[in-house]
Amino acid sequence: MAGENQKQLKEISKRRTFAIISHPDAGKTTLTEKFLLFGGAIQTAGAVKSNKIKKHATSDFMEIERQRGISVATSVLSFEYNDTLINLLDTPGHKDFAEDTFRTLTAVDSVVMVIDSVKGVEEQTRRLMEVCRMRDTPVIVFVNKLDRDGKNPFDLLDEIEAELNISLHPLSWPINMGKDFKGVYNLYDKQLQLFTPNQKVTAEDTPLKDLNDPVLEKKIGAKDAAQLREDVELIEGVYEDFDQDAYLKGKLAPVFFGSAINNFGVKELLETFIRIAPTPQGREVTTRRVEPSEEKFSGFVFKIHANLDPRHRDRIAFLRVCSGEFERNKYYHHVRLDKDIRFSNPYTFLAREKDVIDNAWPGDVVGLYDSGNFKIGDTLTEGEDFYFTGIPSFSPEIFKEVVNKDPMKTKQLEKGLVQLTDEGVAQLFTQHGGNKKIIGCVGDLQFEVIQYRLKNEYGASVDFVTLPFYKACWISSKDPKKLQDFIKFKQANIAEDKDEMLVYLAQSEWFLNTERINNPDIEFHFTSEIHK
Ligand code: G4P
Repeated sequence: MAGENQKQLKEISKRRTFAIISHPDAGKTTLTEKFLLFGGAIQTAGAVKSNKIKKHATSDFMEIERQRGISVATSVLSFEYNDTLINLLDTPGHKDFAEDTFRTLTAVDSVVMVIDSVKGVEEQTRRLMEVCRMRDTPVIVFVNKLDRDGKNPFDLLDEIEAELNISLHPLSWPINMGKDFKGVYNLYDKQLQLFTPNQKVTAEDTPLKDLNDPVLEKKIGAKDAAQLREDVELIEGVYEDFDQDAYLKGKLAPVFFGSAINNFGVKELLETFIRIAPTPQGREVTTRRVEPSEEKFSGFVFKIHANLDPRHRDRIAFLRVCSGEFERNKYYHHVRLDKDIRFSNPYTFLAREKDVIDNAWPGDVVGLYDSGNFKIGDTLTEGEDFYFTGIPSFSPEIFKEVVNKDPMKTKQLEKGLVQLTDEGVAQLFTQHGGNKKIIGCVGDLQFEVIQYRLKNEYGASVDFVTLPFYKACWISSKDPKKLQDFIKFKQANIAEDKDEMLVYLAQSEWFLNTERINNPDIEFHFTSEIHK
């Protein structure tokens, strides 16, 4: 139906689905809040609670989770701004939950990366960028905290380019920083934006088509005017016109400067984002590429949020709609389970409330009540058999053996381990040719969470024994005999993941490199596609 398709195309072009990412403390929560204020989704500052765990303690995590409970309103925030529907996917701030963040990035079409102008590129920034690069996700950089004495902007650009290995293109330029911060010159719109701390709305713009206009001296003084002219001349000499295509291909990142807490530079960022950021994009599946404009619905689960209340062990599966129209109460095909299911209460995440919805379009995230049907990476379609690819597991960094302290509860423990790892809290491995259960996580905090939840929700008591491994590599080989030999010789280091894929657990980088050299026919992979 042509009319239907017109509607679908309109809905798609209206949407932008993205995440704000940063090293903790760079200003992600603050920037999110300002975006919501512009979107009219919240009325007062302070309404968005930071989901970061300040004291890095389990009790804090549990408290936050309990407060959030199943009210997952903070996981996806949808709001409208200038006729654009923005789906902002929240990512956990704590580094121990990095894998959750990585997976959320599979469900977005672009990201805004916040960098602290004082600290520059930090550990988590680097890792997040690597994940963006895997999918060529378009990135906009927001250099935050210009109200503080940070690094020289030219040095900062050099540092970001070198450390993150991406070309940059400044679209705004700061005039001083710290207590002398006067504002930014918008290189894209050729406008001057002057800074007044703590403005509710952004400062007034002064159009300035020609930087030699003497009005510049009046506004910012002779010294800063001279400096700005010099800087802009340099920038224009170095950078060609902004290449939007290169940005959309993930090769070039536009840069904005501002101060989130002072709401400075945020509106420009948001408006430029709407103008240049990609609309919902097509995605690769095991058999072909799925385009959002296709008539038939498809989508995948990228996150599962559990209810920590043991009396209601329901969960919410977060589904990213990739093509067609998702409709309430319609039967969809759950590819992995090969069964048709329908959803009577799917909901959306308009920031003001959690709404049951009748339909959703590509780019949207829908919350589905789940009693154990879903695991991360699951695909729903209108009947076609395929899986979305590029939703990998990443190698954990800490490995511990599970020791069952209460043999009477073995069944509960096994169920708990499977369900918790389906949620993506951690990865579960089984010793090859044995029964030993090994849990792999990115951070120590997760082990405490698992221990607590196994006890609280499943009545199972466990201890953990740290294992001396540093990475899990999924292994494969074109030569089955060579693979068998390798498994035989390295038995103590071989395990299977939940999909029965073989992994080699390496004690150290040195061991891994040695095995690679000694076994040229074996391929070692740091990530696994969940469905293969
Ligand atoms: P995160 O989500 O990336 O972890 O960062 P968040 O927004 O929570 O910001 C981290 C800290 O940086 C907060 O201070 C926040 O107020 C501050 N901040 C954010 N943007 C700016 C800015 O433009 N300039 C300056 N000077 N500070 C900024 P905090 O003391 O840790 O928390 P709070 O007590 O203020 O909430």
